[in-house]
Amino acid sequence: MEKIVLGCDHAALSLKNTVIEHLKKQGYETIDVGTYTEDSCDYPDFGYAAAKKVADGSADKGIVICGTGIGISISANKVKGIRCALCGDLYSAEMTRLHNDANMLAMGARVIAPELALQIVDKFLSTPFEGGRHLKRVNKISEIENNQ
Ligand code: RB5
Repeated sequence: MEKIVLGCDHAALSLKNTVIEHLKKQGYETIDVGTYTEDSCDYPDFGYAAAKKVADGSADKGIVICGTGIGISISANKVKGIRCALCGDLYSAEMTRLHNDANMLAMGARVIAPELALQIVDKFLSTPFEGGRHLKRVNKISEIENNQ
């Protein structure tokens, strides 16, 4: 079973806890890098902390959540090796695994309902990378990163 790291800011604490509970019920091991309270905090701190765990192999995949999902996904994507996809629908969650081999999922707690968020998480975690022609494109993303 994969190990999943989760991070959020104050806007998404409740949804993150709901996702963790949902994952544990399915037998996933989870790492929670915070935040742990509803006190106002800065999403880059938690996007970065979660992304580092994926990048260094401590976790297989990551899920990050803030109000819109935008700030925390931008932050996670600054870490080398991270392909963090902001998803608000099931089609995107499926396609970003099939085509982009996304290793992190971002969601907006103020954008989508918790029920949809759990469906998106399930779709993201259960969909494999298709490889083939998509591998060449994902490798090009790494090349851009390596040439900075
Ligand atoms: C916090 O108010 C909010 O800015 C944050 O959760 C997120 O939406 C940023 O992208």
